[in-house]
Amino acid sequence: MELVTLFIDGTEVKAREGEKLLWVALDNGFYIPNLCAIRQADSPLASCRLCFVEIEGRRAPVTACTEPASDGMVVRLNTPSVQRLRNTAFELLLSHHKLDCGHCDKNRNCGLQSIASHLGLKLKLTRLRRVSRDLPVDSSHPLFIYDPNKCVLCGKCVWVCHEEGTGILDFAFKGIETRVSTIESIPLAEAGCNSCLACVAVCPVGSLVTKPGVSVEKARTLVAQLTGAGPES
Ligand code: FES
Repeated sequence: MELVTLFIDGTEVKAREGEKLLWVALDNGFYIPNLCAIRQADSPLASCRLCFVEIEGRRAPVTACTEPASDGMVVRLNTPSVQRLRNTAFELLLSHHKLDCGHCDKNRNCGLQSIASHLGLKLKLTRLRRVSRDLPVDSSHPLFIYDPNKCVLCGKCVWVCHEEGTGILDFAFKGIETRVSTIESIPLAEAGCNSCLACVAVCPVGSLVTKPGVSVEKARTLVAQLTGAGPES
């Protein structure tokens, strides 16, 4: 594939033509917040809306996970409009996420915490109201627990379940009711799960976690292999 030259915040970088800007930036040491991007996925889900960047000549910021690199591109990562959009996206995610860090297994290993720390944001709502969903937690599986109230709908578990597992997870319902679920919300233990734990490995928050005493080593190793970036990149 042909190499192109582009500029990220004034630094010249080389990239394969067509490679998504998110990966070009991360591979060259630039931070762009992201929760839903999967390097190996054919088409980005672009659901978290955290990875906005500005490109010279464009009227509005674009999502870096969907934007292909091209020769001569001038990219800026931290303009006021980028900050405004991604801060709003971050707060929107928080508004649907049950914040319970003190009791969460992913405390200090959480994508939301990592992004807040990188961007200097607080893990609290300032403009939006909390959307409390009170959905039932599924602890039917012997190895892991799924709490849909913490899910940020990044879609990584859905993708990896279809790649590595038995494809039992998918998006269900629409709009504000959207959630990740098994078909007809049957319990995970009865849904034909092959216990690969890949969904636990890629979940960037505390929505899918192993049960106490279950090794997380397999899950951690899978993160790097499956997403190419890990939940906190
Ligand atoms: S929208 Fe680009 S990483 Fe989520």
